[in-house]
Parts: sequence; C-alpha cells; structure tokens
Amino acid sequence: KNQKNVVIQNQAYQTDEWTNVSPKILSYLGKNLHLKKDHPLCLIKDSIVEHFYSKYMKSTRTPLFAVFDNFSPVVSTFQNFDSMLVRKDHVSRAKSDNYYINESTLLRAHTSAHEHDLLKSGLDAFIVVGDVYRRDTIDSSHFPVFHQIEGVRLFNKKQLFAKSQDSYNELKIFEDGSLYTDKQACHTLEASKLVEMNLKQTLEDLVCDLFGKDVVYRWVDAYFPFTHPSFEMEIFFGGEWMEMLGCGILQQEILNTAGAKDSIGWAFGLGLERLAMRLFNIPDIRYFWCQEDAFLSQFRGCKNIKDINFKPMLSNQPPVVNDMSFWVPDEFCSNDFYDLVRSLDTGIIESVILKDSFVHPKTNKSSHCYSIFYRHTSRPLTKTEVNVLHNDIQTAVVTQLNVVGRW
Ligand code: PHE
Repeated sequence: KNQKNVVIQNQAYQTDEWTNVSPKILSYLGKNLHLKKDHPLCLIKDSIVEHFYSKYMKSTRTPLFAVFDNFSPVVSTFQNFDSMLVRKDHVSRAKSDNYYINESTLLRAHTSAHEHDLLKSGLDAFIVVGDVYRRDTIDSSHFPVFHQIEGVRLFNKKQLFAKSQDSYNELKIFEDGSLYTDKQACHTLEASKLVEMNLKQTLEDLVCDLFGKDVVYRWVDAYFPFTHPSFEMEIFFGGEWMEMLGCGILQQEILNTAGAKDSIGWAFGLGLERLAMRLFNIPDIRYFWCQEDAFLSQFRGCKNIKDINFKPMLSNQPPVVNDMSFWVPDEFCSNDFYDLVRSLDTGIIESVILKDSFVHPKTNKSSHCYSIFYRHTSRPLTKTEVNVLHNDIQTAVVTQLNVVGRW
C-alpha cells in the first residue's frame, strides 16, 4: 500500500482518504497573528483579555479567568467534535468543510475543541485564543484561517446562589425535569436563568467596553450541539445586523464527562476578525495577512483601540471580473474548487461566486459557472497577472478536479 506521511510541526502523520490539507493551508500554522505585537488581532485579543482580567477576580490578587493562547491547532476529531457532543453524522464533520490531516486528526474548526481538556484539568473559568481552520467560500469576510476567543465559566451551588442567602438551602441547580426551550432537563429553571443572565451580562459588558456604551446589539436564539439554550449576539454596525458570537449554557453531559458534575456553566465563542473589521473599519479580511508596513504601521504603538480608523492603501480600484464555466463530475463540491483557487492565489483574488449552475436536460450533466473577482488589497493589478492566474486555475481545475472546461 502507498502509505504517505505529512509532517506538521515536526510530527509525522499518516495520510488516508480523509487527508485534504494542502501545503498552502499548512503554511499558516505557527503564524500566530494573535500573538504578534501591534497586529490588529493581537490588539483586540489583548484588550479582551485585559477586560476579563480587570473585571473578574478570584481573590483581590488573582484573575478569575485563566488564559491560553498557544495551543496547537492540530487536534483530534474527539477534541473537535465528540467531546463537544457533535454526533458522528453531523454535517459540521464533513470533509468538504474541514481540513483533515487524516481520519482522526484535523486542524481545529473552533476553539471549543479545547474545552473538554481544560474542564477535565479542573479549571472553572478560562479563555482560549487561537487560529481556526474552515473550508469555505471566497469573499471579503471569509478566509480559510481565522481567529477565535472561547470563554467558559462554571458555577457551583454556592457561587450561583451567593446573592440569595435566605433561600440558599432550598435552591437547587439540578432536578429530574423536562427539556424546555429555555433550559435543559437536568437544570432547574432558576439555575438556568441565573447562568443565562450572567452570560448575557458578561458579553454585553464586553461589547460595551470594546465598542463604547452606545453600541446597539440584540440577542437571537441559536442552536449548537454543545449548548442549550443557545444564543447569538448581533451588533448593528454600518447599517446592518452582524452576527458577533455564539454562546449558551453548556450541555451538562460535557461537564459530567469532564468531572465537573456539581457545576453548571456557560460558554461563548467569538470571531476576532469580524470584531476587528468592524472596530477598525477594515473592508477585507485579507488585510490581516498583509505584511506591508502601510498596513501594520497604522496599528503600531496604539494606546487605545478606539482611536484607530483604518485607511485602505488603495482606494476605489474596480475589480477585474473573469468567469469560468465547466461540466462537473458527480463527486464535485464547490469547496473543492474554492480550495484549489486558494492554493493558487497569489493574493489577488477578492471573491468567487457561483453565478450559475444547471443540469443539461439531455446529457444530465451539471455545469457550474463561477465569477472570479480579481483585486489586490493594496496595489493595482496588471492584465497579465490576472490572465496568468486565471489560466493556471483553468488548467488545475481540469487536471485536479476532473471537470470538463467550457472555454
Ligand atoms: N464554537 C462555536 C462556533 O465556532 C461558537 C460557540 C462557542 C457557541 C461556545 C456556543 C458556545 O461557531
């Protein structure tokens, strides 16, 4: 058998039919933008951590939340999925949506992948910051690597009901009850509501601190396999509602399995790029990977993140739009195409949209037509470089994805 290895951070992994990491995606490992002083993602991370450090104390001298920002993004499917109760047949496990190293190992798709280990180690309040990896569409707000902050806080009976001393003895966290939209079967309504209020207050305080007191936000119900009830917070910014974060009360089974069966807790996960794009007015997610001084210098030595208003280095250059049509084989998925485009992109592709798809009535073959928008974030493009890349993509899509070109 043809057993191949892939080496990641000095460790060899055997590849199999799940392997879909490319050299390009692996080149992002270890970049750790959230740890680069003066990088906008690091500035935001620092101010969020500072918010939690100064606002929540265990005793007068010890911060409540332990912070971890240096875990390897290489995790097991157990950490990323099973430990968070994502079932074996759940769509979020699909090969088309994740970067697998092999059947049991992948690049984490969310920082929730570390919750189980940290809970198991006995922590009851922590924050995890890290790079996460997802196969996705190509546009100004999506990049296959982005950064998340995860927060978790547990409460035992004493901590939860501390403010209701009179009735403390009658109040309970757990009951053998029923599942409702606002609570899990094993939680009492009063415990669930107290934790929900604490969660929402914590996140409202955070966004007020980041965006200022006038920030307009709303709570929407959501679904995650690992929390119930679950919510999303949306912020009104630039004329539209933008999803900011997901959160909820952790499924008790997760705490029980990790050895925290007497506590109830909340968790949230927040995307740093989205936050930074809104806070600093950064119009394209590719800027975060830009090495140019014209970008980085705008954040250097910044004292207060509210003082920054990003100025794009290139204004109002129209994109060059080039279409590409082909007949696709049965096993084709759009994310395979986007990934291939990503792997060849020299930094000049802004977005790719599926413009049209149809099935030929006679041959039953499917055709896809994609529009590729070419635009660099900081310099004008030449016709030649666009054509060279466009041709390279056409060649690669035929040889690697078995499509039949219609050009
Ligand atoms: N992990 C979720 C995501 O990436 C966010 C989340 C974290 C939701 C914790 C609830 C609790 O979308």
